[in-house]
Amino acid sequence: MAPHLPLIFLLMIHRVSSADWGVSYSHSNICALKDSSVIMSCTYTYPTGHQIMKVFWTKNPIKEDVEPPDLSEDPEYSQRLQYLGDKEQNCTIRLSHVTQNDSHMYYFRFTTNVTTGRWIGKPGVSLTVTDLQVESPERVTEGDSVRLTCKSSCTLTDRATFIWYRNSQPLTERRDTNNELLLQSVRREDAGRYSCALHGHTYISPDVQLNVTYEPKNVSVSINGSAEIVEGDSVTLICSSDSNPPALNFSWFKENQSSSVGSGQSFSALQSGRFYCEAHNQHGSQRSDAVTVKVHHGAGRNVIVITAASGGVFIIVIIIMWFIMRKQRRVGNEDLTIKQSDLYSDVSQRVSVHDEPPSEADAVNDAPYASVKPNRFRAKTPESSDTEEIQYATVQYHRKKETNRPEDNECQYDNIRVHHPDAAMK
Ligand SMILES: *[C@@H]1O[C@H](CO)[C@@H](O)[C@H](O)[C@H]1NC(C)=O
Ligand SMILES: *[C@@H]1O[C@H](CO)[C@@H](O)[C@H](O)[C@H]1NC(C)=O
Ligand SMILES: *[C@@H]1O[C@H](CO)[C@@H](O)[C@H](O)[C@H]1NC(C)=O
Ligand SMILES: *[C@@H]1O[C@H](CO)[C@@H](O)[C@H](O)[C@H]1NC(C)=O
Ligand SMILES: *[C@@H]1O[C@H](CO)[C@@H](O)[C@H](O)[C@H]1NC(C)=O
Ligand SMILES: *[C@@H]1O[C@H](CO)[C@@H](O)[C@H](O)[C@H]1NC(C)=O
Ligand SMILES: *[C@@H]1O[C@H](CO)[C@@H](O)[C@H](O)[C@H]1NC(C)=O
Ligand SMILES: *[C@@H]1O[C@H](CO)[C@@H](O)[C@H](O)[C@H]1NC(C)=O
Repeated sequence: MAPHLPLIFLLMIHRVSSADWGVSYSHSNICALKDSSVIMSCTYTYPTGHQIMKVFWTKNPIKEDVEPPDLSEDPEYSQRLQYLGDKEQNCTIRLSHVTQNDSHMYYFRFTTNVTTGRWIGKPGVSLTVTDLQVESPERVTEGDSVRLTCKSSCTLTDRATFIWYRNSQPLTERRDTNNELLLQSVRREDAGRYSCALHGHTYISPDVQLNVTYEPKNVSVSINGSAEIVEGDSVTLICSSDSNPPALNFSWFKENQSSSVGSGQSFSALQSGRFYCEAHNQHGSQRSDAVTVKVHHGAGRNVIVITAASGGVFIIVIIIMWFIMRKQRRVGNEDLTIKQSDLYSDVSQRVSVHDEPPSEADAVNDAPYASVKPNRFRAKTPESSDTEEIQYATVQYHRKKETNRPEDNECQYDNIRVHHPDAAMK
């Protein structure tokens, strides 16, 4: 029993001097990525003759004279904290799924069977939990070079490897210990949502939109409706372009005309011509190909109607002629030439009856007159008279010149020709 007394005395001296009491942490500053697991490595020493009663970790603030709380009893930590050490010298813990709320000072605390033999390992471990933020200019112009940075609020300790994502797809070619992503000569395709992460970690930074602006491209004119219109109507041309920001200024030009003929995304063309548009934004402008607009003058519609009507008249005339010819051939070949000329005048009269008479046509500007001028033909022989038909005919419709509108002086007519394949023209 006696040899024990000096030992206890010695121990008491040691306790006073604290020589053998201690906690050492391998890292006093830890920078951890959000959602990751943090291992705080730690060892502790104490004088012999003590039995370790309790080991636990606590966080600041530490109040003097108050036993610090055991972190593993804190509901915010109990599920995530794992003591990996032992009751002899290893005091390592693991804290998983860290959040920024876990950024604190942490200390290891142990007590022994001796009332005064307790220790707290100051100054403790400073844990900083960081997220990642992509830093990038909000917008760049095509052709610029841009540097994106994956920012953390503290320096990540391990040799972190950064992974970049665009629109949630990893940019596999970009894997670097450098936290920067350099895009040289940005293209439109580089626009998108960028995020970054650390290799081996689940946490991914929030997206950051990179906006690549560029001058108008693919400028084109579309025509709403038909490009062929009747005088007095208009056709709407619409200018479209691919640009960022969207083009708001549009100019319209008529080909071979230097000054613009209009502005705005759509343009009402009233005249014939070839039109193109030019789209502008702050980065530049581009012009479209030209489109052709055709305006049919005044009587455009009437011409079509008259042509159709005259076609019907023509067919009737042919039938009448055919009947008359048959009749005449029965009378005799010798009269044919004279009868034929009668026939033609008859036809002219019939046409005049179907259209308006020439006297009225003078009063009504648009009224056409018609004449039927079949080429001369002759029956081959009396024997073949049954099979004879008209072999060639031309019908011409002339529109009278308008005296009150000299600029509109074009002549519109249609030729309708019927060729008979076995024509026996003289
Ligand atoms: C503490 O435990 C050690 C080892 O078991 C023992 O030697 C010592 O007497 C104990 N001290 C006290 C004050 O109980
Ligand atoms: C402490 O324990 C942890 C987990 O078991 C182990 O990884 C570490 O190496 C130990 N530290 C020492 C100093 O023995
Ligand atoms: C962090 O703490 C704040 C308030 O202290 C709380 O509102 C928030 O929910 C905590 N976040 C997490 C992830 O625990
Ligand atoms: C625009 O033009 C480019 C070529 O200059 C072409 O690759 C692209 O497909 C076009 N885009 C559209 C929407 O037409
Ligand atoms: C195109 O024409 C239709 C009717 O013809 C009209 O409703 C529409 O608004 C026009 N579009 C444009 C862009 O002018
Ligand atoms: C990009 O920037 C332009 C110019 O500020 C803006 O008009 C456009 O809406 C932006 N686009 C996106 C996708 O943010
Ligand atoms: C416009 O100019 C081009 C050449 O610059 C020429 O080929 C074209 O015939 C001209 N068109 C008109 C309607 O003058
Ligand atoms: C668009 O037109 C307005 C008025 O003419 C002008 O002030 C503005 O600078 C133009 N913007 C672009 C991008 O050309």
